[in-house]
Amino acid sequence: MQLTEHVSLLSLNTFGIEAKARYFAEFASVAELLPLLAIKKERQLQLLVVGGGSNLLLTKDFDGLVLRNKIRGIDILKADDEFVYVRVGAGEVWHDFVRWCIDENLAGLENMSLIPGSVGAAPMQNIGAYGVELKEVFDALEAIHIESGEMHRFNKEECKFGYRESIFKTSHKNQYVITAVHFKVRKQAALNTSYGAIEEELRRMQISNAGIKEVSDAVCNIRRSKLPDPLVTGNAGSFFKNPEVLKSFHDELKLRYPELVAYPLANGNMKLAAGWLIEHCGWKGKALGRAGVHSKQALVLVNLGGANGNEVLQLSLQVKASVREKFGVELETEVNII
Ligand code: EPU
Repeated sequence: MQLTEHVSLLSLNTFGIEAKARYFAEFASVAELLPLLAIKKERQLQLLVVGGGSNLLLTKDFDGLVLRNKIRGIDILKADDEFVYVRVGAGEVWHDFVRWCIDENLAGLENMSLIPGSVGAAPMQNIGAYGVELKEVFDALEAIHIESGEMHRFNKEECKFGYRESIFKTSHKNQYVITAVHFKVRKQAALNTSYGAIEEELRRMQISNAGIKEVSDAVCNIRRSKLPDPLVTGNAGSFFKNPEVLKSFHDELKLRYPELVAYPLANGNMKLAAGWLIEHCGWKGKALGRAGVHSKQALVLVNLGGANGNEVLQLSLQVKASVREKFGVELETEVNII
């Protein structure tokens, strides 16, 4: 735990954008975090906590304290007939934990394989992929209240998970540092391969009797084929959320655009595939300066090399304006813009 100054954040954001932190430190335990929070309070610094930096767009230097969560550890707490309860340090890499579960033959996370980022960031936006969301395997989390330094525990209901949402993005934003997440994973797999692409990929892999390992491998293959590897091309996954609209609005749009891709929601509304909307505004594979729209998935914005955060932001604003103008739909950003 060492406080350094004017530190480059280039390797700490998957967009690969150069920006500096006025102050920077890493913490590997709650005991190391507390004195850093005391410094923040004393000097009245703004705080930014990063895990994998995979959902972050830095548009300027950060004139405050950036803390990197490096709390590690995966521990089985207890088990019953159906479930195993596992406590994971928030600084663990998400996919490493998914692999650990698969090696231990514990089910529930396989569809969320290869999502970039840390375990602590996962509940903040209720990460999800291929028909499964974090909330389905989530039990509770431990977090330090930034102002008081007190440890609070939040159960699933208290986190108020929604589509890419939790209280840590709304009512409790910037108030807590998540330090550990408790998962409730299954001893017996209940595979969810309803998401079309998984079945298709398993067939392509010539697997007829899939288990969690095979589903995980299929998901990794699909992701690798569509989503850019941040180590090669800077990106933060989906830049926008898939917008939720009224069924009546969807029906009108569908009359005008019969190819429109949308999914029904439990509340009667429809969720539109934002990637489809962006592609049909002609943005797929297009660039604006050094920022681009990924050629295989239009929902992903990419750093084509040396882009700064403002170039990506400008591109995102133009994409939003096109979608608004053509379809009358307002896209909401999924990525955290600093
Ligand atoms: N589509 C297009 N053109 C595109 C992209 C998508 O037409 O350029 C259409 C396709 O018809 C496709 C449909 O949109 O069938 C959905 O696309 P995809 O399956 O790639 O998923 P998505 O809705 O674009 C969401 C998540 C992803 C997650 C995938 C798979 C959000 C914001 N994104 O994307 O999550 O991996 O589903 O489950 O919900 C992330 O959050 O960073 C992320 C990558």
